Amino acid sequence: MAPPEMTARIESKLARKRELFSLGGAGQVREAISSKAAGYLAFYKELSKSFHQIGSVFPSSKSLASVMIRPLEIIQGPRRILEVGPGTGPFTVEILRSMRSEDQLTICEINSALLKQLRSSLESNQDFLEHRSRVTFIEGPVQQLRAGAAETQFDIIVCGLPFSIFKPEVAEEIMKLFHDLLAPSGHLTFFEYWGFRDIFTFINTPANRRRMRAVDRVIQKWQGVAASEGAVSSKVCLTNFPPAKSLDFCFRP
Ligand SMILES: C[S@@+](CC[C@H](N)C(=O)[O-])C[C@H]1O[C@@H](n2cnc3c(N)ncnc32)[C@H](O)[C@@H]1O
Repeated sequence: MAPPEMTARIESKLARKRELFSLGGAGQVREAISSKAAGYLAFYKELSKSFHQIGSVFPSSKSLASVMIRPLEIIQGPRRILEVGPGTGPFTVEILRSMRSEDQLTICEINSALLKQLRSSLESNQDFLEHRSRVTFIEGPVQQLRAGAAETQFDIIVCGLPFSIFKPEVAEEIMKLFHDLLAPSGHLTFFEYWGFRDIFTFINTPANRRRMRAVDRVIQKWQGVAASEGAVSSKVCLTNFPPAKSLDFCFRP
């Protein structure tokens, strides 16, 4: 890069920093920090009561969120997006950032305190404010959605559900539902902690080990369905804590 270009770039970065820390900007930074802190607080408060639903001890990172929303780069045209299990909203924020003016987002969360906290934190998110008329919130289990209606057909499902702590029959019910809710060539992304199953299979009780193997068979089965109908891809995200693997199933091309 030529020195004048470099200087211009540094100057523009400095101007941006000055703008942020000017009176209004500092307020925005403070608001963003306190909203993040409130998110963490709500997450850990709910974790102690609802580990059977949350199934994770850390909210996901921005890097995992970027991997999870890759189908938004693949699918062109107006996208109907369903996010399931947003928690404190790490994926929501990235989905909103990538949304265009004709896209629609439905957010489904079972935990009312987490959903309340998410909705309140989004009030200071510029992308949300831009798209809010096309964002719908559903409080309750995703299993309450019924496939077959126009308003419950989606092009992309971004799923944050902790399948590894579910009973196999619940995992099967949800996977089948996702398959049926997706429009042709729709994408489902979900993640699992990398190596989690091996470690926990090793240290778990025999009953839990059997349950986890059964959940694994459910995921394998739907992976087979996606492979025969469309495509399967995966990506490991080492910069998440714990490292995670995101899976992308494309059904019925
Ligand atoms: C592992 S946390 C993931 C949160 C966030 N997506 C992240 O990655 O940090 C799982 C989330 O799914 C929600 N959840 C669990 N079961 C659900 C269900 N049946 N329907 C909708 N949300 C559910 C939990 O309340 C929790 O917020």
